[in-house]
Amino acid sequence: MSDIVTVTRDGGVAVVTLDNPPVNALSLRLRQPLDAALAELKDDETVEAVVIACAGRTFISGADITEFGKPEATASPNLRELIVRLESFGKPTVAAIHGTAFGGGLELAMGCHFRVAVATAKFGLPEVKLGLLPGAGGTVRLPRLVGPSKALGMIVTGNPIGAKDALESGLADAVFDEDLVANAIAFAREKVKAGAPLVAVRDRDDRLADARADLAGFDAEIAEVTKKARGLDAPKRCAEAVRNALTMPFDQALTTEREYFVELVSGDQSKAQRHLFFAQREAARVEGVDADVRPRQISRVGVIGAGTMGGGIAMSFVNGGIPVTILEMNDEALQRGLGVIGRNYDISVSRGSLTEDAKARRMAMFTGTTDYGDLAGCDLVIEAVFEEMAVKKEVFGKLDHICRPGAILATNTSYLDVNEIAAATSRPEDVLGMHFFSPANVMKLLEIVRGDKTRPDVLATVIGLAKRIGKVPVVVGVCHGFVGNRMLAARSTELESLLLEGATPAQIDKVFTDFGWPMGPFAMGDLAGLDIGWRTRKSLGKTAAVADALCEAGRFGQKTGKGYYLYEKGSRTPTPDPEVEKLIEEKARERGINRRDISDQEITERTYYPMINEGAKIVDEKIAARPSDIDIVWVNGYGYPIGKGGPMHHADAIGLAHLVERLEHWHGKTGHDVFKPSPLLKRLAAEGKSFAALQAGKA
Ligand SMILES: NC(=O)c1ccc[n+]([C@@H]2O[C@H](COP(=O)([O-])OP(=O)(O)OC[C@H]3O[C@@H](n4cnc5c(N)ncnc54)[C@H](O)[C@@H]3O)[C@@H](O)[C@H]2O)c1
Repeated sequence: MSDIVTVTRDGGVAVVTLDNPPVNALSLRLRQPLDAALAELKDDETVEAVVIACAGRTFISGADITEFGKPEATASPNLRELIVRLESFGKPTVAAIHGTAFGGGLELAMGCHFRVAVATAKFGLPEVKLGLLPGAGGTVRLPRLVGPSKALGMIVTGNPIGAKDALESGLADAVFDEDLVANAIAFAREKVKAGAPLVAVRDRDDRLADARADLAGFDAEIAEVTKKARGLDAPKRCAEAVRNALTMPFDQALTTEREYFVELVSGDQSKAQRHLFFAQREAARVEGVDADVRPRQISRVGVIGAGTMGGGIAMSFVNGGIPVTILEMNDEALQRGLGVIGRNYDISVSRGSLTEDAKARRMAMFTGTTDYGDLAGCDLVIEAVFEEMAVKKEVFGKLDHICRPGAILATNTSYLDVNEIAAATSRPEDVLGMHFFSPANVMKLLEIVRGDKTRPDVLATVIGLAKRIGKVPVVVGVCHGFVGNRMLAARSTELESLLLEGATPAQIDKVFTDFGWPMGPFAMGDLAGLDIGWRTRKSLGKTAAVADALCEAGRFGQKTGKGYYLYEKGSRTPTPDPEVEKLIEEKARERGINRRDISDQEITERTYYPMINEGAKIVDEKIAARPSDIDIVWVNGYGYPIGKGGPMHHADAIGLAHLVERLEHWHGKTGHDVFKPSPLLKRLAAEGKSFAALQAGKA
């Protein structure tokens, strides 16, 4: 017995309680006493059945991922050995599940003969989200319980299911509303009484028969669920492993699963994804915002502007269960904005992801107004009006008069100085930036811009609120474009230059999609609308030869059927357009540029490396608290491929010394400032260090 594993008795039923806070992870210090307790109970003739339950807020919610790559991870007894012990126990074993049975936790539960749960419990094998697959029999046992199709979906997406679903699909044997352990004991006692032969999950084959008889049909299902895997190895390996459960004897499938696991866990993609997992946790830690800072209460949110961003922002809150008052300049603009919101929900209804009833309930949570006075009852007001300082200041001046003391005032500005906006109020300590990304109801990132005077409790409130509505918050400092757009700008100028010097939009886009992006920057520009950037450039007095010329020719992207590419009517597929090629050649000629062949390597170096360089400056200036925050921004706001871990993690993989050498090379060739290596990058490179080392305080 240990503090972590205790055994109590209720007649012939032994209850093994695991208590390894916070989430009962399967670390070695839990596995050892659990194994010892099971060994003892197996030999104890007075024990007729065993219930495994957990103390605290959850059942075992996974492996201890801090053990990955360390000897503890595989030290005996490992999880596979524990499961073998359970499967060959000889008396009924029952997992009693509350909270989450995730990853190794669910694998252990599938080693038991039975699983019972409370109604709020969740079951899942989320390993794929860390670039892995379940490595202790999950891919071989789950199909035997829920059938191969459902197992495939759960393992390839990593998404959990609820208790009701688990019961219906065969993963759970009983679900109780309350008194889990008492009910589990009664359940175990019944099984003892019934005396039916015990069948381990490994020996159940009945649910595999249909798929075995139609492997081609199953392969089609695999193709469907792995469609979005885009260069990621783990989803493919997950699917293959489930397929192996159909085609191979149990032990062979188990061994193969293990081989896949070992291959994935030592691969770059999983390292990148695990980096992101920890990075996201880390991003929530903000200097000066300690655990004792009390957040403010937010019950109603106001949104000013029902345009592209305002509408999406308002939807995010309503989707998170928080009512919104949305204000526009006039009734026509308001109705247009609400109309777009309604149509967005209609799309969800037509896709089956939202019911008509739910849509009606959500629409009822929007209150439209053109009267600023109606914002008086809001606890937080987010401004999403035109990107002009004068307009923003006027709006914040009004808010200062109308909003109650203690209300938080936020701006969704992309570039403007949050301190200057805050100074338009008498309460700059309650002002901050909440920079959402388009489409705001979809994209997960929220850059929280901390002004010079923003109070810690305001930050704490907004960080908590972001999580409540399913966003990923990253706190950043004030500068032009904050973290994401500032780095994007460093890349954008080079994209233009590459076009003029000889590359084509299709060639550049392919370099990006080969890297793992869902689409390249030009296809993305066409999708978002080229007029947005055009307007921004004009307001900043900036130009971009090719992009401006396209807009002048009325080529705004998909919405006008042509942009960098041509789009057939009703199609979103980009086709290269000789007209654009001609236009680029003309612009190059005007500038005296001789176009040449550009290699893919040059495209990579001239687009990614300036971004990383800018990222280093952002870290040096403390606009981002740590390099990994930048990775979280890029993965969640811009779709940076997760298998690469974000630009700063990727930079470490490239090697900073090599990066500096290539930046200097391109600086020499082009004279462009974006290639001038930042002092921080140069220092780290000279010392043979990495961004990871810097973050760990070792550089
Ligand atoms: N579009 C993007 O991708 C994006 C991304 C992040 C942030 N932003 C920022 O969000 C803000 C809004 O951008 P958008 O793309 O939604 O613009 P938009 O033009 O689509 O919407 C702006 C809306 O604000 C309304 N408006 C203007 N002045 C107003 C006022 N004084 N009172 C009430 N309503 C007013 C307009 O009628 C319009 O409907 C800008 O600051 C922009 O920089 C935009």
